[in-house]
This record gives sequence, C-alpha cells and structure tokens, in this order.
Amino acid sequence: MAGKYTIILAAGKGTRMKSKVHKVLQTLCGKTMVDHVLTQVEKMHPTEVVTVIGHDADAVRESLGNRSQYALQEKQLGTGHAALQAEPILGGKDGVTLIVSGDTPLLTAETFEKLFAYHQDKGAAATILTAQAPDPTGYGRIIRNELGTVQRIVEQKDATHEEAQVTEINTGVFCFDNKRLFAALHEMKNDNAQGEYYLTDVIEILKHEGAVIAAYKMTDFSESIGVNDRVALAEATRVMQARINRRHMQNGVKLIDPATTYIDAGVMIGADTTVEPGVQLLGHTVIGEDCVIGAHSKIVDSTLEDGVTVTSSTIEQSIMHKGSDIGPNSHLRPQSDIGEGAHLGNFVEVKKAVIGPRTKVGHLTYVGDATLGSDINVGCGVVFVNYDGVKKWHTSVGDHSFIGSNSNIIAPVALADHSFVAAGSTITDDVPFHAMGIARARQVNKEDFWTRTALADDPEWNK
Ligand code: UD1
Ligand code: CA
Repeated sequence: MAGKYTIILAAGKGTRMKSKVHKVLQTLCGKTMVDHVLTQVEKMHPTEVVTVIGHDADAVRESLGNRSQYALQEKQLGTGHAALQAEPILGGKDGVTLIVSGDTPLLTAETFEKLFAYHQDKGAAATILTAQAPDPTGYGRIIRNELGTVQRIVEQKDATHEEAQVTEINTGVFCFDNKRLFAALHEMKNDNAQGEYYLTDVIEILKHEGAVIAAYKMTDFSESIGVNDRVALAEATRVMQARINRRHMQNGVKLIDPATTYIDAGVMIGADTTVEPGVQLLGHTVIGEDCVIGAHSKIVDSTLEDGVTVTSSTIEQSIMHKGSDIGPNSHLRPQSDIGEGAHLGNFVEVKKAVIGPRTKVGHLTYVGDATLGSDINVGCGVVFVNYDGVKKWHTSVGDHSFIGSNSNIIAPVALADHSFVAAGSTITDDVPFHAMGIARARQVNKEDFWTRTALADDPEWNK
C-alpha cells in the first residue's frame, strides 16, 4: 500500500536568528517551532515521519523524542541535500512525501490536507504550496509561463530584477511522489548564488523530465510565515497568539483585551472565566470555570479550580482549590497548595506550603515550608522563618488556630489545633492545644524620660 511520508527539514543553523539557541528550537507560545510543525503533521496520521537534523542534532532529537525518526545531515549543504539524507529510511518506497521546513510553525494540518488532496487530484509528481506575499523579500519566487504553468522556483539571491517582482512565493512545503523525489534529488547541482543544493531545483528537474508539476495557492499568507529572524518570530507569535485566543473565546472564555493576553498553546481554560488585560498564562496551566484572572497576573504550570480569583499576582507550579483567592501583588512559588475557599491577600508569598480550606493569610506575610490546617487566621506581617542558612525547616499549624500580627514562627515548630500566638511573638517552641504562645518582652514605661533627652532643651520641640 502506498504510504504517506513526511520529511521535516531541521538541520540548518539559523544564522539570521543571532541566537545561541538553534532556530527550530526557538519557542513561540510555549512550544518550539519544530514541535508546532510536527504537531500539525501528526494530525494527518502519516505512515512515517523523518526529521533531518544537523546543527544541535541532540537537542532537536531530545525535544521531539520518539515522535519522529531522524536522519543526520552532517554538513548543511542546502535544503535539497537535507531532504536527500532521508533516503536510507524512505528511498524506494511507494507513496507521497510531504516536505516541510522546521521554521514554518503556523502551517496547519488542514492546509497540509488540502495540499495533499490537490496533489492527488492533479496526479502530479510534485505539488508546491504557494502563497501571495504582500512583501516577498527573502522567499523563493514561483516562476510561471504565459499559460500560468509553473516552470521553476527562483531563490531571492538568484533572481533577476524581473523575477524578484513576482509576489507568489514558495512556502517551503511540497508534496512529492516519493520515488521521483529521490531520483530528482540525485540530479541537483549547487551552481547558484549560495553554492547550496536547493530542494526548489527539484521542480525544474522534474519539469524537464516531463512530469506534472502542480501548485496549490493557499489563501492566508500569514499562515505560511517562514521564521528566519527575531522580527519574523515576533510576527509569528502574534498570529499564533491570536489563533489561540480566538479558540478560547469560542469556548466561552471572556478575554477583555485579546491583543495583550498571552496564552501558551498547552493551556486549558473553562467557560465563563474572565481574563483581564496583560495576563500571561503559561506552560501546562489548567484553569477552571468562573475564575477571574486579574490584570498583569502571570500563571505558570499551575492548576486553578473553579471560581478562583487572582488579582495581579504571580503563580508558579502551584494549585489553588475551588473558590480560593489571592492578591493583589502576591506570589505563589512552586509547590504551594491553597485550600478551598482560602484567602491570600496582598503582598503574601507562599513557597512549598499547604494552606488549608478557609484559612486566611491577609497581608504582608511569608509562608515557606509549612502545613497550615483549616480555618486559621494569620495576622499581618507574619514570617515563617524556615531557613537557618544551611537547611530548610518545616512548621505545622493546626486547624482553627490564630497567629497574631508581626510574629516570627521559627521552624521547626508545631502549633496545635485551636492554639494562639500573641502578636509580636517570636515562637521557637511548640504551642499545645488550646494554649497561647506569647514570646516577647513585657512593656516597661520609663517615667519622665522626656526630661533626660536633648529634646527637653530644644525650643522647636517645646512649643
Ligand atoms: C526556503 C526555500 C524558499 C522558501 C522558504 C520558505 C530553498 C532553497 N529555499 O528558504 O524557496 O521561500 O524556505 O520559508 O529551499 N535546512 C536544513 N539543511 C540545510 C539547509 C536548511 O535542514 O542544509 C532546513 C532549515 O533548518 C530550515 C529549512 O531547511 O528549517 C529551510 O531552510 P532556510 O535556510 O530557512 O531556507 P530559506 O532561506 O528560508
Ligand atoms: Ca526559512
């Protein structure tokens, strides 16, 4: 049976990106470019996928894992030379091969399917996916004859002035008859401006052989953007973001200002949740229904259950259970678990701690390495002193306890259920059930203190 193969070209360095990170591993909306490409390819259920790797081969292989087979292109001698490296895996097989670049992250499976159907329909040996570019600079141009039949593709650097005027561009995506592709790849020469083996030359080679060449022009150029530099990366991010945001709105999420809302590809959000301007929802974040994510909040790899309210706060690798709230200006650091209906107010930092249901931590407090039960009240300015300079220590606080303001709870220590800590205490010992821990000096009033100070003789202070 004829197969459906895909070759992803991902070996080039990406010099124009001016980055230490390999081009196809640059991310947009939380996912590498090559992962975006492979994700769309996978939706077509190809028989085999081969990714051509070269520059930073191990990193690319690691990022895609066993979702693809790999062919190594040791020297990056051009896109055609890259495709040829897949021959040991795909050569001699019957079927159609889709070739796509690792730097066109916006192309969708629907477009690949349309190209594939067009290719089959035309009985072509090769079909080029083309687009009409408002500014074709940098792209290969599609050269047609007076009848409109495709003759060849000319790279920008090899184009005559006249050819450079053509605005129909090569998106870098092709469907080929697999056997004819590899036969033609052996005919390539590198006598061009860049001294490279161009995949695009295969079109002219097949044309000379009398093969049917087809071109399928997609309607939306913005989907075909090839990301070679930072400017294109920002442009592609904008398009991808708009696409992601539209999907969430269609699912019932209220985005007040989609243009300033940044949501990574893997994020899930329930209906009737409101997301205010300037919010970033990143990584593997899952948000329930009826939540409010206030302006300028940043939520990374976290889970928020239904009815959670976040006001201008940062949340990392944490979970907030149903109906809890936080902020403004608070920070959940990794491994914080905020109980149902718990309230965290302003300027509260929590790290690796469990805050039980309905517990309130209202203001200016640090809770690190602690387990707090339910229905606790933590006053203003409480510090869970968890670090002795070498080790982190743990504190536990029982249900229905009350910790007075401006207390230091020096770990390791345990406060039992229904216990109290008097405001201003520095707690170093456990507080038992129903007890109050008070650890502060008694107040002494020094009578007539005023007369012993320099202030007594200063006219300014004695008006
Ligand atoms: C290529 C096309 C151009 C098209 C554009 C669409 C060629 C000669 N040119 O140009 O017609 O308009 O894409 O975006 O095909 N790669 C390798 N090995 C190499 C060289 C490149 O694997 O030796 C990979 C790159 O990693 C990249 C892809 O092939 O993912 C395309 O290479 P790139 O250098 O970006 O080609 P463009 O100049 O953009
Ligand atoms: Ca490119």
